[in-house]
Amino acid sequence: MSKENTTGEQPGDFTEQLRASTTGLGLVWAQTSTGVIGQAGAMPWHLPEDMQHFSRLTTGHPVIMGRKTWESFPAKYRPLPGRTNIVITHQETWGGTPAAEGAIAVKSLDDALLESQFAPGHEMVWIVGGGEIFAQSMELADVAVITTIDAATEGDTFAPELGYDWTAGASLPAGGWLTADSGTRYRITLWRRAEG
Ligand SMILES: NC(=O)c1ccc[n+]([C@@H]2O[C@H](COP(=O)([O-])OP(=O)(O)OC[C@H]3O[C@@H](n4cnc5c(N)ncnc54)[C@H](OP(=O)(O)O)[C@@H]3O)[C@@H](O)[C@H]2O)c1
Repeated sequence: MSKENTTGEQPGDFTEQLRASTTGLGLVWAQTSTGVIGQAGAMPWHLPEDMQHFSRLTTGHPVIMGRKTWESFPAKYRPLPGRTNIVITHQETWGGTPAAEGAIAVKSLDDALLESQFAPGHEMVWIVGGGEIFAQSMELADVAVITTIDAATEGDTFAPELGYDWTAGASLPAGGWLTADSGTRYRITLWRRAEG
């Protein structure tokens, strides 16, 4: 690891810039360099700096997620506070179960997007996972905020590939990596999708 490749910067100000410069529909995820986003129903790393970034970015806006992502959060951490939590499931009766407490259950991505427009902060709606829901919403999103983690981790759930219609914008740091307190290296990049 070369020293000039790392920085002591933290993402707080950058996250605020992203909040100020994004509207519409956004995807937000963290992945390894090989695209892993999950393993056995959880994220296979512990990076508090990214969780804080995620929380700052999405608070005040509706969040949309698949039922498995919702259930990956420990019950005491859901619903994600300060956000309308919209959960997509095919299961007709899931919304009435204890596991759904605090969620608005909907039966399709279209219904989730419609529901989001009634929520506070709906000028920016964040899709927060997981793999199935990212894949289905790629073609609808305006922006993606992606944290890349410099870790080699096995996974069973992967981020979708960003096609040619996606262009990298601002990144923190502009080159190289941030270094978390744990020593893990990571970077955050804003991607924008060209309108087709
Ligand atoms: N690294 C990150 O940033 C990040 C973010 C989020 C999640 N994750 C990880 O990703 C993994 C979960 O992702 P996943 O792909 O397995 O699951 P997911 O996308 O979270 O949820 C899948 C579920 O959503 C429902 N669903 C999907 N498409 C639907 C549709 N069109 N209509 C109705 N319901 C639909 C189904 O629920 P039913 O089965 O109830 O019908 C399906 O089983 C976990 O490991 C999690 O930790 C990582």
